[in-house]
Amino acid sequence: MQDFTVSRRALMMGAAATTAWLASPWRAMAQTVSQASAVLPDRLERLLQMMTTEEKAGQLTLMAAAWSGGAATTLNPAGNGASFSEQLEQARQGRLTGVFNGNGAEMARQMQIAVMRDSRLKIPLIFAADVIHGMRTVFPVPLGEAASFEPELARRTARAAAIEASAAGIDWTFAPMVDIARDARWGRGVEGSGEDVLLGCDMAAARVKGFQGADLTDQRHVLACAKHFAAYGAAEGGLDYNTVDISERSLRDVYFPPFEAALDAGALSVMASFNELSGVPATANSWLLDDVLHKEWQFNGFVVSDYTGDEELIAHGFASDAREATKLAFMAGCDMSMQSGYYIAHLPSLVAAGEVPMARLDEAVRRVLMIKHKLGLFDDPFRRIDPKREASRIRTPAMLELAREAGRRSIVMLKNDGDLLPLPRTGKKIALIGPFASGQHDLVGPWNVYGTDADAVDLATGVRAAVKDESAVTVTLGSDIDAPLPGGIEAAVAAAKAADVVILAIGESTNMSGEAQSRTSITVPESQQALAEAVAATGTPIIILLKNGRALALQGAVRDAPAILVSWFLGSESGHASADILFGAESPSARLPVSFPYATGQAPYYYAHKSTGRPNPDGPLTEYKAHYRKYPNSALYPFGHGLTYGDIDYVDLHIESDRLPWDGALNLRATISNRGARAAEEVVQLYIHDAAASITQPVRELKAYRKIALKPGESRDVLFQLTRSDLLFIGQDMQRTVEPGLFRIWIAPSAEADGLSGSFMLMPQ
Ligand code: BGC
Repeated sequence: MQDFTVSRRALMMGAAATTAWLASPWRAMAQTVSQASAVLPDRLERLLQMMTTEEKAGQLTLMAAAWSGGAATTLNPAGNGASFSEQLEQARQGRLTGVFNGNGAEMARQMQIAVMRDSRLKIPLIFAADVIHGMRTVFPVPLGEAASFEPELARRTARAAAIEASAAGIDWTFAPMVDIARDARWGRGVEGSGEDVLLGCDMAAARVKGFQGADLTDQRHVLACAKHFAAYGAAEGGLDYNTVDISERSLRDVYFPPFEAALDAGALSVMASFNELSGVPATANSWLLDDVLHKEWQFNGFVVSDYTGDEELIAHGFASDAREATKLAFMAGCDMSMQSGYYIAHLPSLVAAGEVPMARLDEAVRRVLMIKHKLGLFDDPFRRIDPKREASRIRTPAMLELAREAGRRSIVMLKNDGDLLPLPRTGKKIALIGPFASGQHDLVGPWNVYGTDADAVDLATGVRAAVKDESAVTVTLGSDIDAPLPGGIEAAVAAAKAADVVILAIGESTNMSGEAQSRTSITVPESQQALAEAVAATGTPIIILLKNGRALALQGAVRDAPAILVSWFLGSESGHASADILFGAESPSARLPVSFPYATGQAPYYYAHKSTGRPNPDGPLTEYKAHYRKYPNSALYPFGHGLTYGDIDYVDLHIESDRLPWDGALNLRATISNRGARAAEEVVQLYIHDAAASITQPVRELKAYRKIALKPGESRDVLFQLTRSDLLFIGQDMQRTVEPGLFRIWIAPSAEADGLSGSFMLMPQ
């Protein structure tokens, strides 16, 4: 077995990092200054020297904006009860580094003026916000956008969001959320890119590049924040905020890489996660925040707590009071406190008592000042604050067109028996049924602070705009989202009977996913399932159009419908984007970024699971093999699955050699054909499996993917190249390692499809 170290980061991995797992609070307290201190320009270093301890603590204190009015305030109970005028006063006194989720350029203007005119040191405020999937123009939820398998699309929508946000005075977005999410019960999977490490890394990097651009001083760019560090998505039972207890290897193999990708792409802030990690809450976990982030990865941005994350150390049972919580979080490497007010309240006395070294305080302040400097705020504190620009840059036609494009490229077609889709624009009576058939609700989806459903296009509007004769479309709700509607099923059955085809728009409401929205059953809510059963019994063909923020376990008439589309929450242009796919303006090109299991009880189900010693072979379930009583250990619709309106055939695989030399490369060529009559796009996926290794490896792992366009009748060769750096895993010593031996490969349309397969040997050095 040979060890092979590839990345710059891995090169810097020392013994200290590998043995420091499970840092204790005492260890955290003993810790002093990390090596990754920011070096400030002279004038800022002089500024730092002039600051009082209180002013330093102020630079580490971020509060929810107290400015009233608008949707953002419903998310932010006013900052610790402060009124806007009180908050202005705190800013003047240097007790605030900035605010988040405020309302626009006018608020920012008033606050920045107060600081620049009246504060002692005139350190510009930073304005932050949760701009997760668009601002006023809302793009598909990140999970939906990940389904596009187009990082470039994610870069473009992040850039567009940055353009709108920065016009409204925002310098810093709390995005991207890069948590790998493998348990569909957990509601926050909707904010990320799903279950896969490679797709997660690509999307993380693309979004950071879109938000930050090449030059952070540009008034169209905003600072990105990779969150939530770390392993927030691995919460036990899929319960938000819950305990995480996983191996260091899983962290390094699965949960860390998207953070590394975000930092490599330039992200300069990181948010600590709410969860504890094997006994030590992330907010006070010096192994995570200092050893890994700063020392090992040489990150020189700053770490912000999540909302009251430092305060929550008390509820975790890790700190006994506010003062201790402050000390533990701060000394572990959490540079900035969000919303608790703990740092401004307790850091000065902790420093005075010698319990927190001034050097640690200076280190954290340097990091924050450095980022404000990189954002260009010291040169022009008003560079992103211009109410005129705010009005003109929002919801432009180009932005809305991008939202529509991103929307249709996020829709996954799971099934299309008998080519029921696409629908013709004329000649068919269409019954649009379900709680999401019409109405401006549940369109923009969870974690959207600024966009509104009232500005978004609903399904009925989109469908009516797509057909030639609007009178051919009827709309019937049939059921409420989570409860029956009196007479709803009867009306829906009548509508279905009178139609040639039903579009059944069912699934989850906005509130069923997102923060704190864990579900014990990942099914279509009961009342809607009953609606689907009744409509299916009419015999009219049904197209299921799912609205969802997670993988669902489809049952009964929903599962058995001839056509199923997964449409997530598509944002501002929701209805038009859906109609583009329903009526064939474009073939569906998205693929599942999360596996849809057969049943909730499989959670956490993900394709890259291990084999076990008793895998159940394909075919019938066999006694004493790894499967459930009723279901196999696989997905109904696995990661990567998705159909198009073309008819795609994986024809031929050519593997250049059956040996990959240690320092060489192996070329693979697959021929993919579109035998159908419509243009299509296919996401060709390359998976590997390391047949025998010193650490057991997943049954399959995605190593590359290509989205290709195929005209009717067209065949194309898709080329991949593998080198040994594609075969790395975290070895027994926690270093990235690769071992010679047999590797299986698949070039396939999903993680569980046979596709084209072969194997090769990685030869020893
Ligand atoms: C969420 C973060 C978010 C923060 C600020 C928290 O509840 O976990 O993702 O950025 O609030 O709004």
